[in-house]
Amino acid sequence: MRIDILSAVPALLEGPFSASIVGRAQKAGIVEVVVHDIRKWSTNKHKKIDDPPYGGEAGMVMAIQPIVDAIAELKSQRPYDEIIFLTPDGPRLEQGTVNQLSMADNLLMLCGHYKGIDQRIRETVITREISIGDYVLSGGELAAAVLADAIVRLVPGAIGDGASALSDSFQDGLLAPPVYTRPAEWNGLRVPEVLLGGDHAKIEVWKAAQALERTQRLRPDLLDGNQGQDDGKKEPDSRR
Ligand code: ADE
Repeated sequence: MRIDILSAVPALLEGPFSASIVGRAQKAGIVEVVVHDIRKWSTNKHKKIDDPPYGGEAGMVMAIQPIVDAIAELKSQRPYDEIIFLTPDGPRLEQGTVNQLSMADNLLMLCGHYKGIDQRIRETVITREISIGDYVLSGGELAAAVLADAIVRLVPGAIGDGASALSDSFQDGLLAPPVYTRPAEWNGLRVPEVLLGGDHAKIEVWKAAQALERTQRLRPDLLDGNQGQDDGKKEPDSRR
């Protein structure tokens, strides 16, 4: 898998992809994450990448020209499964979307800045919009890092023990059960007996009950099917 990220602040993305699971997956040749500075495509003599909005609103909008030229050049090099715009007013990211995106070969992510991008780009060039939560970051970079991390860990080979990703919270619509490690007793607190017993069938029953109980207590909305998010996928667009 290859992930291209278009950013106005590429320095923000230097750290997240060089270590841990994404860093190892890159070294192993399982994924490639390439961060591009949008300014490279600006034809403005000062390499400006913002423009004032129509309608007299305060703040600036990302300029159309560098974004459109950058995406056109990248698209001429490989076919993208999705061109994703990270924005707080997109549909909120959920595990189902991450699972789907982890099957892509090529993803392009555009990090929003200022007051966002021209609506016409959103309607024609972008194939999917994603928010990582109902709060506003200074730009889409950290959101792109979150999204890329969540995707890459699901790419076969990225995690040593593939089964581990399948038992993550949310993979079955529930929070994961609690986990314990040595010692069996710490500060007077004992690991639940069932986990020490080695009866795998019993352990699975216990884990399922714990997952359900934690979900009911901490995230009842997951059980109501009440997250109410559409998956952000747009109509197929022949223009991309
Ligand atoms: N850019 C700024 N805030 C964001 C958010 N919450 N999700 C995605 N992109 C963003």
